[in-house]
Amino acid sequence: MTKIITENLHLHYGENHALRGIDLNIHANKITALIGPSGCGKSTFLKTLNRMNDSVPNIKITGKVLLDGEDIYDSTVDVTKLRKKAGMVFQSPNPFPMSIYDNVAYGLRIHGIKKRVLIDEIVERSLQGAAIWDEVKDRLRTPALALSGGQQQRLCIARTLAVSPEAILMDEPTSALDPISTMKIEELMSELAKKYTVVIVTHNMQQAARISDYTAFFLLGEMIEYDKTNNIFAAPKDQRTENYITGRFG
Ligand SMILES: Nc1ncnc2c1ncn2[C@@H]1O[C@H](COP(=O)(O)OP(=O)(O)O)[C@@H](O)[C@H]1O
Ligand SMILES: [Mg+2]
Repeated sequence: MTKIITENLHLHYGENHALRGIDLNIHANKITALIGPSGCGKSTFLKTLNRMNDSVPNIKITGKVLLDGEDIYDSTVDVTKLRKKAGMVFQSPNPFPMSIYDNVAYGLRIHGIKKRVLIDEIVERSLQGAAIWDEVKDRLRTPALALSGGQQQRLCIARTLAVSPEAILMDEPTSALDPISTMKIEELMSELAKKYTVVIVTHNMQQAARISDYTAFFLLGEMIEYDKTNNIFAAPKDQRTENYITGRFG
């Protein structure tokens, strides 16, 4: 099943034509990796999927992004609701300067949930879903910023899960983490794909090969090749993809 479709998606930052007609079908309950050299438009593309670019000055976006068949750039779309449905996790963990509990409860309160027992329940479930519950259950009221980097990143994932997203967009979520924390997040990712559509930007090709079901290779604002991850790495069709995955550039 297809969850997100982009059609002839172009994005300009002023004169910089950063996305050049991207057509991509992102499958539900799969992990899709976006790879390619630095500056090729991976983060830009990811951000267009939940309109994180909206407030960038001089930006121009044309083409379509359909989430469950609905055009997310339609003027009637409620952007807060959209970002609840498609949550984003960033490269450096960015917990809020508040307690672990309040970080996870934050989105719920924003969305008007007030019942304490319900919030308690969702906080626990989200922390479990992000594989960090056991490490923090005895210190939920302590500052999130005292956690290790890897724990902070899983907390940010829990914060995203709390508002019941359908898609989770991750921009190099492990690039600031040590190998053990990276492994934990990678393990978590395949768990997440059972319930959510996961899109992950990574410049670590081994990571893409290990964890993703589908891979899209980007170069200079174009999407060069998109296929099942095994095919991309074992039998790329485009010479440029092959050059990249064999380490000849990038
Ligand atoms: N907020 C921005 N304003 C202007 N240009 C940007 C902005 N973000 C990215 N760019 C430019 O868009 C291009 C793609 O960048 P980006 O999507 O960050 O690439 P990647 O994530 O693949 O490294 C680059 O040329 C970059 O300089
Ligand atoms: Mg990037």
